[in-house]
Amino acid sequence: MDYQDLILQALKARENAYAPYSGFKVGAALTAGSGKVYTGCNVENASYGATMCAERTAVFKAVSEGEREIDTIVIVGGPVDEREELSVYAYPCGMCRQVLSEFGKPDMKIIVARSVSDYKEYKLIELLPESFKL
Ligand code: THU
Repeated sequence: MDYQDLILQALKARENAYAPYSGFKVGAALTAGSGKVYTGCNVENASYGATMCAERTAVFKAVSEGEREIDTIVIVGGPVDEREELSVYAYPCGMCRQVLSEFGKPDMKIIVARSVSDYKEYKLIELLPESFKL
């Protein structure tokens, strides 16, 4: 599968990141069960713990629009001064992995990208084995 379009949408969403405290901007783009794409960025807060990650922003946008399944998510992140060519792969934090596991099947794809042509592909089960479920 070619993730170019989803990576571009994640990079675009990253431009809206509000990250004055960490200086680290993150963007995410996911495909949901309906086939629609939802995007998100990190939104920081002066009360640091109130910060929301890009992945969860995208997931909550999708779920609040009626989606219940996530097929693929692309994550891009890096220091504010970087744009299309990022220096790092931004892996989802533990809390985001847990949230993704609520709506993704074990083979859901998690893509961490540095540019449209430089990315790594994982399955959810690889990044969060034995996740908590009720
Ligand atoms: N961040 C994300 O958006 N996603 C993650 O999975 C990890 C961290 C954000 C939160 C904060 O605004 C900044 O990156 C530095 O931690």
